[in-house]
Amino acid sequence: PTAGCTTAAGNLALMLYALLWEAGNLVDLPDKRIGFYNFCLWNATTGELQCLEYKHLQVMGISLPGMVLARVCVYACLVFSIFYPVFVAHVKCREEREGWKAILIILIIKMIILSGGLGMFLFQTSQWIHLSDFTGGFLALLGTQALLLLQILTATMYLSWQRATHPSAWGAAS
Ligand SMILES: *[C@@H]1O[C@H](CO)[C@@H](O)[C@H](O)[C@H]1NC(C)=O
Repeated sequence: PTAGCTTAAGNLALMLYALLWEAGNLVDLPDKRIGFYNFCLWNATTGELQCLEYKHLQVMGISLPGMVLARVCVYACLVFSIFYPVFVAHVKCREEREGWKAILIILIIKMIILSGGLGMFLFQTSQWIHLSDFTGGFLALLGTQALLLLQILTATMYLSWQRATHPSAWGAAS
């Protein structure tokens, strides 16, 4: 249980860092800043970072609905992470198996929307980003994914352990 709390807290901390502290910027270099809210490239003429507006991005083949959807998915995952501890505490007090199933479902939904949002973002921007450009925000989101996977594995193991040790309780439900 303690390990579970640490993972959940780590997960939330990584998401807060990437999406609020780094303001959703997955690339944050002196000459390039690309994230869920910014798209800035170096302008050699003026010698400064130039943040492009949507009409420019459209010309470059970036779709606004795609970016907005990516943003919504990733920030929705953050909202889930904020309320997740409250939900888990509630389930732990009542010790209900159905609650653990719900936790597993929530974790899987988080994993799907985060990967979906990140995937959509990368699909739209991959042309302007090199692998070596990624900074802290991106690494934090990758870390979040890894922790989510760990939480999903833990919850699955806990559920099968419960099924093995309390078979009668499971029989009633199924
Ligand atoms: C750089 O900035 C200048 C002046 O604002 C602008 O005319 C030019 O189009 C910009 N170059 C690029 C590549 O965006």
